[in-house]
Amino acid sequence: MVENKFTIGVLTSGGDAPGMNAAIRAVVRTALVNHMNVIGVMNGYEGLLNGEFKPLGARDVGGILQRGGTVLHTSRSKRFQEPAGQRDAIRKMNEAGMDALIVIGGEGSMNGARALSKQGVKVIGIPGSIDNDIWGTNIAIGTDTAMNTIMDAVDKLRDTASSHQCAFLVETMGRNSGYLAVMAGVICGAEMVLIPEYPVDLKEVAEAIEDAYRRGKTHAIIINAEGSNLATTELAQAIDAMDIGFNTRMTILGHIQRGGSPTAYDRLLASRMGVKAVEALIDGIHGVMTGLKGKGIEFIPLQDVISNKRKVNVEYYHMVKVLAR
Ligand code: F6P
Repeated sequence: MVENKFTIGVLTSGGDAPGMNAAIRAVVRTALVNHMNVIGVMNGYEGLLNGEFKPLGARDVGGILQRGGTVLHTSRSKRFQEPAGQRDAIRKMNEAGMDALIVIGGEGSMNGARALSKQGVKVIGIPGSIDNDIWGTNIAIGTDTAMNTIMDAVDKLRDTASSHQCAFLVETMGRNSGYLAVMAGVICGAEMVLIPEYPVDLKEVAEAIEDAYRRGKTHAIIINAEGSNLATTELAQAIDAMDIGFNTRMTILGHIQRGGSPTAYDRLLASRMGVKAVEALIDGIHGVMTGLKGKGIEFIPLQDVISNKRKVNVEYYHMVKVLAR
């Protein structure tokens, strides 16, 4: 039986991201210190609809700070996208005595949070996504860990690429965003990055690789974002069939990018955002997402978050080419 205190529900939604657990822990412990109750909602919005709830105490979030994934589990709920689903979710929240909801997730999750907020629910969003495609925050929870995972993988691939004089095509995640690929291009020393925002043709990719060969490089790394206009497997086959100096190999990094223990940066960011989310509710603020702006965490209206598109940093995109000389 939950006592008659202000009660916060917390859920994680969409693709999991390293650091989500650190955010859950911060929400629970900040709420408890401030004499509030917390109910964990299992399986994201789907669990909200099904009433999959469990009260969370301080010890329930012990030992999770360093763990990847999300102890609350997650889902991509189709039912919740419909107005009827949202109405049923609000009913479940009311039955459970939830006064507010904290949603940790990506772009789609913030859309869901805004939909609930419009219907009078006190909602706070916390951005968690490896894609870093959410408008309103410099960086989302999980992105730094994913970048480190990519960097580690590409460093290893470079060792073998260099030994065998290979051109390596490496596919990164990111859905429709080129963020991870561009950042990987800079931090992993790629010849070229292919991203959804700037379509290129096969000839340009082949030329970049051949040019690297002519300049005496022992290998060439091409980072291909999963959402780019050229599919990695076909691209690798086409390049391999050309005479460009290097042998061609490819690696699709896939879901390995979503896992792993969060970096120090992500643990800190998640902890700060979790604390801020609860503080917002204490101050009567809701309908916002916590966003990193400069060095501080600010509250960004969810309506602004969902009606703006985050753009890839063109400066970094061009930097890849310059630094590949
Ligand atoms: O949003 C995170 C993400 O990993 C994207 O980069 C990717 O496109 C998508 O999720 C993959 O989703 P799923 O695991 O459902 O295939």
